[in-house]
Amino acid sequence: MDYLTLALAKGRTANNSINLLEKAGFHFDHFREDSRKLVFYDKDSLIKLIFVKAVDVPTYVENGAADVGIVGKDNIMEEQPDVYELLDLQFGQCKFAVAGFTGTGLDTDRTLTVASKYPAAAKKHFHRKGIPIDTIKLNGSVELAPVIGLADVIVDIVETGNTLRENGLTVLEEMEAISTRLIVNKASFTTKSDSVHRFIDTLKKGLE
Ligand code: PRP
Ligand code: MG
Repeated sequence: MDYLTLALAKGRTANNSINLLEKAGFHFDHFREDSRKLVFYDKDSLIKLIFVKAVDVPTYVENGAADVGIVGKDNIMEEQPDVYELLDLQFGQCKFAVAGFTGTGLDTDRTLTVASKYPAAAKKHFHRKGIPIDTIKLNGSVELAPVIGLADVIVDIVETGNTLRENGLTVLEEMEAISTRLIVNKASFTTKSDSVHRFIDTLKKGLE
C-alpha cells in the first residue's frame, strides 16, 4: 500500500482534524499542537501529515506535493484548485457573509470597495449579482476595514458573529455555508486509488 501525504490546515480547525483522524484510527504519537514540527507520521506509517497554512492546502494538493488535503471550503472557493472535493467533514461550520455597518446599501450605483481575505470569492459573489466592486486584499482583522474607512464592506467568514458585534458591524448578506472538506489530487486519485479509497472509507467511519 502506498502511504499518502496529507496536507492539513493549521489554525482553528487543526484539532478537529486530528481528532477525526484519531477517531478513524490514524494515530500520530508525536503530534503536539504546540510543537514547531511540520511533518508527522502516523504509527502505522500510512499517512505522512504535513502542517501548512490553510490558504496553501489547495496549492499543495493541486500540485501533487500532497495527495490529499483537509481544508475549509472558504479556502477552496478562493483558490479554485483543480482537485476533487470528495467529503464534507462537517466541522468548522460557519458562513461566508458580506458585512458592514447596518444600513450600508449593497446595490448602489457607485462601485463598492470590499476588503477581504477572499477577494476572488468576493468578486465572484458581487459579479454574479451584477454589482461592480473594487477589492482590497487583507490577511486578517478584516473587520477593521469599514471601521477605519478603508472599505465600504467586508466579505469574511462568520462563526459566532462576535467579531462583527464587537466592532459594531453586522451581516448585510449571507453567502455560502462553509465547512471543512477533504480534497484529493487528481493524479493521486488514479495512481494511488487503493490508498485514497481506503483513506476516504476510513474517514467516513470516523464521521459516523
Ligand atoms: C476569523 C474570521 C472572522 C472571525 C469569525 O478570524 O476572519 O474575523 O474569525 O468568527 P466569529 O464570528 O466567531 O467572531 P480569525 O480569528 O481567524 O483571525 P484573522 O481574521 O485575523 O485571521
Ligand atoms: Mg478575522
